[in-house]
Amino acid sequence: MKISKLKISDLKVNVDGKEILKGVNLEINTGEIHAVMGPNGSGKSTLCYAIMGHPKYEIVSGSVELDGENLLELPTHKRAKLGLFLGFQYPQEIPGVTFGNFLRQAHNLKTGEEISLGNYYKKAQELLENLNIHKKFIGRGVNEGFSGGEKKKAEIAQLTALKPKLALLDEIDSGLDIDSLKDVANGINKAYQELGTGLLLITHYQRLLHHIKATNVHVMKHGKIVKSGGMELVELLEKDGYHAI
Ligand SMILES: Nc1ncnc2c1ncn2[C@@H]1O[C@H](COP(=O)(O)OP(=O)(O)O)[C@@H](O)[C@H]1O
Ligand SMILES: [Mg+2]
Repeated sequence: MKISKLKISDLKVNVDGKEILKGVNLEINTGEIHAVMGPNGSGKSTLCYAIMGHPKYEIVSGSVELDGENLLELPTHKRAKLGLFLGFQYPQEIPGVTFGNFLRQAHNLKTGEEISLGNYYKKAQELLENLNIHKKFIGRGVNEGFSGGEKKKAEIAQLTALKPKLALLDEIDSGLDIDSLKDVANGINKAYQELGTGLLLITHYQRLLHHIKATNVHVMKHGKIVKSGGMELVELLEKDGYHAI
């Protein structure tokens, strides 16, 4: 399989006129799992939004490239089409669009197929079954009335349908009970093992990394990556906290 590379160079980003990212450098290849940890407010979500092209996040300087192509000039949907996916820290509800139809559209856009809702139903059911989401959710509005944990699982369902080259998952483990954490981790591992999806996992907790083996670990503080290493960093943080770095 061809390796894809997401390359972030000296990225500086302002939000409401305030500098939040102060020069982030990071390279993620397919087949790699990068965990990013860091105190609240250090700019982790900002990094995800900036990569994906949220209009509120103003790029001051630096570059974001996917296989040499400058992403910063592209609208968000083109970035997605090139193979980027963002799993939100706080997923939005989309009343009026059923979850099944949403997944079907994602599948069709990605594959170029024109599967009808009726024909997609079985696929959706299987996809949700793997994540232990009840099939009745297919007919509900996207995230509408879903619990916090169900919303996070729904993000992984979308990832599974879209089969991205690289997925940014922002605190996908927050608010999950033990069983849901396992379901989410299984879904992520499946994408990683079957498709080689490269991952950027933002997390505060070692417990996610008990289920998903990160190849690289980074610590972000005050808008910069201040330390990179392997799983030993996670243990150090768990023991001594962020001020140890
Ligand atoms: N949309 C926004 N409007 C105003 N300030 C923001 C916005 N998004 C982020 N910030 C500020 O940017 C800083 C970094 O936030 P964020 O990227 O969410 O951090 P993290 O995800 O690491 O907790 C915080 O001080 C936050 O208040
Ligand atoms: Mg955040």
